[in-house]
Amino acid sequence: MVSRVIPVDSFDLVIFGGTGDLARRKILPALFRRFVAGQMQEEARIIGAARSDLDDAGYQEFVREALAEFVPRAEPAQVDAFVSRLGYVPVDARGTNGWEDLAKRMRTGVIRAFYLSVGPGLFGDLAERLHQYGMADEDSRIVVEKPFGRDLESAKALNEVLVGAFDESQIYRIDHYLGKETVQNLMAVRFGNVLFEPLWNSQYVDHIQITVAETVGVGGRGGYYDKSGAMRDMVQNHLMQLLCLIAMEPPSKFDPDAVRDEKLKVIRALDSVAHHHIVRGQYAATKDTASYREDAENPRSFTESFIAMKLHISNWRWAGTPFYLRTGKRLRARSSEIVVVFKDAPHSIFGADQGTHRNVLTIQLQPNEGMTLDVTIKEPGPGGMRLLDVPLDMTFAEALGPEAEEVPDAYERLIMDVIRGNQTLFMRGDEVEAAWAWTDPLIAGWQARNDVPDPYDTGSSGPEDALMLMHRDGRRWRDIRE
Ligand code: BG6
Repeated sequence: MVSRVIPVDSFDLVIFGGTGDLARRKILPALFRRFVAGQMQEEARIIGAARSDLDDAGYQEFVREALAEFVPRAEPAQVDAFVSRLGYVPVDARGTNGWEDLAKRMRTGVIRAFYLSVGPGLFGDLAERLHQYGMADEDSRIVVEKPFGRDLESAKALNEVLVGAFDESQIYRIDHYLGKETVQNLMAVRFGNVLFEPLWNSQYVDHIQITVAETVGVGGRGGYYDKSGAMRDMVQNHLMQLLCLIAMEPPSKFDPDAVRDEKLKVIRALDSVAHHHIVRGQYAATKDTASYREDAENPRSFTESFIAMKLHISNWRWAGTPFYLRTGKRLRARSSEIVVVFKDAPHSIFGADQGTHRNVLTIQLQPNEGMTLDVTIKEPGPGGMRLLDVPLDMTFAEALGPEAEEVPDAYERLIMDVIRGNQTLFMRGDEVEAAWAWTDPLIAGWQARNDVPDPYDTGSSGPEDALMLMHRDGRRWRDIRE
């Protein structure tokens, strides 16, 4: 039971940074999979653009190698057909080289999309040249990746550069978490069922936990990471987006501005977080793996590879319900989930000796996508009325059949949305700015205090204080496990 594939209109997609890591690992494999699925029209074309001095054949070879690595089960005939649509133009983002060639390659009458898979320092130059060489028109789209700035000021400057060259309706700011299947499912579950929404508020929800745990360290990208830390790298964007989708009011329709207006209201309603409600950590070395500071090549680094926090949303729906967020590298397992813990039943007719039993809705984002709802039932057998919590497993693969196990990568959905012209799953400029406006003072706070992150063991659940953050409130995190 897999959705029908509706081909998108024909397009020319230019990938600036077409030889970069993201293009190799994510963008090109995603396009290939959509091609195999039959979603790209015969004449759709992809043009790599970067500094390297390649020609079409050289780029096609580069992409073959990327597919061999990242889509190892690809059929050779399909790879041949896919790469035949690929071209390449060497361009100098800050000069004039290559731009006329690129302009000549672009067709008219098809959708033009420009994917800026480059550092934000080049956004302005690229946007300007696209205009100068007549490639940007009202049907063009521009796609930009995170990091979208490193604070409010830089995000505003980037937004200014982009809106100076394109209309907001043409700008697609990617947060790949929004392309994840279960993240979209979150909206379907909340707003497609009557069951949950009446209970989705502080009257019935005790608290909500959002965990994005990773096992990888920062080795290889320590230079970037050490200037960001978990707050900028994960919380300001990915966790914030999850929080918005969990907490927002029902939009009047599933339409880009209706959804993004509601998300923005959540961000604006976030309280500032007291510093004793934030725990930052750095992973320690093991005999086989380096410590955070070694990976970052900065022996005095104060940057966090883990962060946990308790926050509140000041509005009618959520006043009084805490949200606990945590994310970190080198943790026990790769596991991302959202856990909605409902309150106790107001009165137990079964007596106090039955302990507490709570409904818990767990939404797993990765590695296995699905949901479970813990419900309280009677323990089977004749031994009187004893209560037991059992999970109702709503793992989608089981319900939807074997094809559903092939969950599309977030980039597949998002790139096709760019071509379809649907911005619902992309961040609007004001949303990004609001997220930074909330993040900046928290970072400034720990910097002013020279807070040193707590060390934590690789393979653990993070620093002890992160556990205490919940224990102090009489609550506990769900175990991090795959
Ligand atoms: C990226 C972060 O945006 O998301 C990385 O920069 C992180 O540090 C990654 O590892 C996590 O993405 P995913 O899809 O593997 O959960």
